[in-house]
Amino acid sequence: MILQLPNVLSQDERLAIGTTLATAEFVDGKLTAGWYAKAVKHNRQLPAEAGKDLRDQVKTVLNRHPLFQAAVRPKQIHSVLLSRYDIGMSYGRHADNALMGQWRSDVSFTLFLNEPADYDGGELVIEGADDEAAYKLPAGQALVYPSSALHRVEEVTRGVRWVAVGWVQSWVRDPTQRELLFDLDTVRRSLFAQTDKSNEFDLLSKSLANLLRRWAE
Ligand code: NI
Repeated sequence: MILQLPNVLSQDERLAIGTTLATAEFVDGKLTAGWYAKAVKHNRQLPAEAGKDLRDQVKTVLNRHPLFQAAVRPKQIHSVLLSRYDIGMSYGRHADNALMGQWRSDVSFTLFLNEPADYDGGELVIEGADDEAAYKLPAGQALVYPSSALHRVEEVTRGVRWVAVGWVQSWVRDPTQRELLFDLDTVRRSLFAQTDKSNEFDLLSKSLANLLRRWAE
């Protein structure tokens, strides 16, 4: 499931992050790429020691987002990188590493930090079984997608593309199961809005909780 999350950052938060990033020193993105992704990763990122506060902030804003909670069921947002793509930079086709330190990456996210009008190119393209989709979201919005998908970032041809990217270990490893839980939860909330607490709502809530008990790890 690929999902767009609105309002992950307020305008004030986004502008404050932009100000910090504008004066920060960036290093070659190849430093944190897997051996074969190194060949296609052409961007710059904030060094590990410099970006801790910003990385913590990204984790905090995602963890407070209800749609992120319902769709991703994060156990741990274990890795966050702040990246910039200047003119001529891109990230070729790859799938993200399955393991990062002691964590598994089930879900990847890209949080867009500046407006699409600020740059040309730079679309995040995610491949499906027989098609692909390109994303260039408004500033402050995030895209979440399965870490297992092949994806790439098109070359930036004007301006600078600023993003935070990260990886999450979910309580529910299987994307199909996560989607079932998400759909049931969406129906449950909609039912509650229409009929308040009802017998149907209670049974749906019980099923949702019991499926999560079976699948959580
Ligand atoms: Ni990637």
